[in-house]
Amino acid sequence: PHDWYRQMRATNPVYFEPRFHIWYVFRYEDALRVLNDPATFSSETGQPSILGMDPPRHNLLRNLISRAFTPRIVAQLEGKITEITNELLDAAIARGQMDVIRDLAYPLPATIIAELLGVPSQEREMFIRWSNIITAGQRFGQGQTADDEGRKQTDREFREYFAIKLEEHRRQPDDDLMSSLILADVDGQRLNQEELLSFCRLLLFAGYETTANLIGNAMLAFEEHPDVVEELRGNPELMPGAIEEILRCYGSVIGAVRHVTTDTHIGKQALKRGDRLIVRADSANYDEEQFHDPERFNIRRMPNRHISFGHGLHYCLGAPLARLEGRIALNLFLQRLRNVRRNEDQPLEGVRSFFLLGLTSYPIIFT
Ligand code: HEM
Repeated sequence: PHDWYRQMRATNPVYFEPRFHIWYVFRYEDALRVLNDPATFSSETGQPSILGMDPPRHNLLRNLISRAFTPRIVAQLEGKITEITNELLDAAIARGQMDVIRDLAYPLPATIIAELLGVPSQEREMFIRWSNIITAGQRFGQGQTADDEGRKQTDREFREYFAIKLEEHRRQPDDDLMSSLILADVDGQRLNQEELLSFCRLLLFAGYETTANLIGNAMLAFEEHPDVVEELRGNPELMPGAIEEILRCYGSVIGAVRHVTTDTHIGKQALKRGDRLIVRADSANYDEEQFHDPERFNIRRMPNRHISFGHGLHYCLGAPLARLEGRIALNLFLQRLRNVRRNEDQPLEGVRSFFLLGLTSYPIIFT
């Protein structure tokens, strides 16, 4: 699709996609303009989730959540991420076979979100099962609604479970994310029960499959750039740069959706109140006006201002965690497994839902 995007950036940078009744914004500069102007390009969905909220409510919620979801909470997870990655790799090595998506990319972030939400280890299997059911709708897009009832049921169980957990933490606060969320206070204002529950759920929608796709899509990057793999194996300190470039070139999130609150223009294109648009990160991240030699995969690219984590007021709150998980998982993967090849007897399965781009299976052979 690179050729098409390049052509669209040059000739038709704001384009109405009739199939989805939505405008696509292809250029980097236009993307930033949209993401920096929430008064004209709104995220509001009327729900208690921070992702679907505009200022001023968004500022308050973001402040409250940032007080709880701190660099310290994330840094504390480093040991846990290493331990879990090693356990997952041990199991794969013992079996002598591995599907990177099923055996590493999904279970790692699911376990880390469980950890963040204070789910005890004996309830972790259940939590991961719920997570898979709840997020399956977004994973497989429309059309796969056969399980709708099951999903609603699981959603209810999830909410009931976390309502109880919240109650426990209220009575006996701990040094963890949930307690900090409950106690977070900006000028006497706190998160209400709906907002707390909604944040627990949002962690799944925002932090699970996205991070899984970062690890999974890295496999595509590795397959296409074996020289980079050798370099990274000898120089793990290059991994953070590689992750930024994987996010730019093999991004998991197609873009951010907004709706127009008042008649406006982007460049020459008129937009009407009520129009919906999607900022196409997968095009903006290749904009030649912003990135030198954009089609080159360059792990030393500096600066690398991709918008795979968004931009502006809704910039991804989980970016430090996603980067940490990616760095640890991919470095351990390269250090512990050798002669990794994709098992070509089995087909490569990918899923491109409306928003998310990723693999559902990546079986490998290794020594
Ligand atoms: C917001 C991408 C991982 C939590 C966002 C946005 C993007 C994004 C593009 C902005 C959406 C918008 O402007 O409408 C990603 C990617 C990830 C990732 C590519 C992995 C590679 C995570 C993780 C967490 C997380 C691990 C938490 C555990 C959030 C939250 C927001 C958000 C809470 C909403 C922030 C706000 O509305 O102010 N993410 N994310 N994300 N992300 Fe992430």
